[in-house]
Amino acid sequence: MAKNRKGGIGAQNLAPTRPKVLDLPGEKELQLNEQTLSMRLERVAAHVPTGACLADIGSDHGYLPVALMRRGAIAAAVAGEVALTPFRSAERTVRENGLAQRITVRLASGLAAIEPGDGITAISICGMGGETIRDILDSGKARLSGQERLILQPNGGEQPLRQWLMKNDYRILCEEVLRENRFDYEIIVAERAGPVMYTAEELYFGPLQMQARSPAFLIKWQRMLHQKHKTLANFARARQAVPEEKVQDIARQARWITELLA
Ligand SMILES: C[S@@+](CC[C@H](N)C(=O)[O-])C[C@H]1O[C@@H](n2cnc3c(N)ncnc32)[C@H](O)[C@@H]1O
Repeated sequence: MAKNRKGGIGAQNLAPTRPKVLDLPGEKELQLNEQTLSMRLERVAAHVPTGACLADIGSDHGYLPVALMRRGAIAAAVAGEVALTPFRSAERTVRENGLAQRITVRLASGLAAIEPGDGITAISICGMGGETIRDILDSGKARLSGQERLILQPNGGEQPLRQWLMKNDYRILCEEVLRENRFDYEIIVAERAGPVMYTAEELYFGPLQMQARSPAFLIKWQRMLHQKHKTLANFARARQAVPEEKVQDIARQARWITELLA
């Protein structure tokens, strides 16, 4: 995982600091806002059920709930933000779109933004590391009714996030890999549906993605294999001894990826 893609407070993911324009060669510059979402948020939006009461946790500018509300795709929303500057930014987006009656912006950490009377039916947590998303879900468990659809877009750390979903009886309903602005993004959609078992490889690659083997998925793992081989070569060259356990872990990942791509 690239070090600048971690999520969470104080270790923000790249999304807010990246230029908010597409940088594909030859592509017309596109200003991203509540009307024109990034492809990543557009794919997240596609998984929000029509008419949902959405809680968008870590909403930043509030583009996702505002875009969905402008399209008439959701009934109501809560935009939760832990940091003051993005909280104010979300408030401004909501206000400027005249949606203050339908979208409540709350300054709160994680699922503390959700109140019992909100009637939330879908929760999106996007653009943060998978471990951060897992920690938000875990520490906010008491606020989950179990009826909500979770739409998660981790920037790395997908394996521990899937592990949490399995441990908490969430079945993965849909998964996507997409590439935008030179980053591979994953989207995981899950609902609580009783006990479910995934193998170690399924938790690593994604159970549905392993079956679907989309071109974006295969290209992502080709890149990852290249990275793992580079890491192993660096370990071999390293003057300071790398713990054997660490070497074995990366070697195992490289083996799994090689088998996946075979
Ligand atoms: C990279 S931005 C992603 C914004 C938006 N969700 C997206 O995908 O474009 C991550 C946001 O999550 C917020 N955040 C991080 N940890 C949080 C937490 N525990 N509770 C609420 N917001 C959090 C940060 O303040 C930041 O605005």
